[in-house]
Amino acid sequence: MILEALEYLTTPCPRWARDMGYLTEAIAIRHRARRCRADWQPHQANTKAAILSAAHAYGPLPEITILGAGLCLDVPVDELSHLTDRLTLIDAVRLRGIRLPKNVRYLCMDVEGSAVALHSGKLASETPLADFDGPGLIVSVNLLSQLPLIPNRWSDDTALNQRIVHRHVQSLRDHKGPTLLIADAVRWTLDMKGAVLLQEDIAQSAGLPSPEQTWRWPIIPAHEAGKGPRIESDVGVWWL
Ligand SMILES: C[S@@+](CC[C@H](N)C(=O)[O-])C[C@H]1O[C@@H](n2cnc3c(N)ncnc32)[C@H](O)[C@@H]1O
Repeated sequence: MILEALEYLTTPCPRWARDMGYLTEAIAIRHRARRCRADWQPHQANTKAAILSAAHAYGPLPEITILGAGLCLDVPVDELSHLTDRLTLIDAVRLRGIRLPKNVRYLCMDVEGSAVALHSGKLASETPLADFDGPGLIVSVNLLSQLPLIPNRWSDDTALNQRIVHRHVQSLRDHKGPTLLIADAVRWTLDMKGAVLLQEDIAQSAGLPSPEQTWRWPIIPAHEAGKGPRIESDVGVWWL
C-alpha cells in the first residue's frame, strides 16, 4: 500500500487521468500483473506474436502506433522499434520504469475522447485518432473493453458504453493504413466452481464479426479472486 501511494504521488500524469482514476487503475494493474505473472504469460505472448506478425506482414512501415500500451507487458517494443521509422505508444497514463529505444515516443492521451470530454464538460471529438492517420500500422491492444469503465462511473448516460465501443471501432476502421484490433471478445464472470455468473459479448455489441484468432486469458484467476468471482476473457484478433 505504501509503495502504491508513493507511486501515485510521484508519477507525472495528465490532470484528467489522475482525477478520474486512470492512474490508480494503472498502478493496480501493475501489481496484479506481478501477482498473476504466470497466468497472464500465454496471453501476453499471444498478443506480442499477433502484433509482430501484423508488423512483418505490412512492413516496411513508416510508423507504428500502439493504443493502450500501458506497461508494454504485451507489446514487443524492442522488436517493433526495428520494423519502423517511428513507434508511438499511447495510453492514458505512463508509469515509471518503461525503457524506450531512440525512435519510440510515449504519449499520454485519451484515445477515445469521452473521458476528457466528461472531465472538461465539453463534447467528445468524433475523430479522436485523426492525428495518427496515415499509411502506418495502428494497433489497439487489449483496450476496447476498458474504454467505457471509468467514463461510466462519471456519467448516468446508459447509452455511453455502447457509444464508446462503437466510436473506437469506427475510428480504427477509418484509419487509412493497416489496422489490428486485439480485444476481449467475450468476458466471463465465474463462481468458485466455474459456473457462469455473467457473460458479456463485447465484440458482438461493438458490431464486430467473428475474430480471426482467439485465446483464453484468466484475468482474475482463482488465487487472485479469493472468495470472489473469477474473470476470464476470450481475447480476439481482428484485421480491420
Ligand atoms: C488491459 S490494459 C492494456 C495492457 C497493456 N497493453 C500492458 O501491457 O500493460 C488497458 C489499458 O488501457 C488504458 N486506457 C483505458 N482507457 C483509456 C483511454 N481512454 N485512453 C487511453 N488509454 C486508456 C489503461 O490505462 C490501460 O493501460
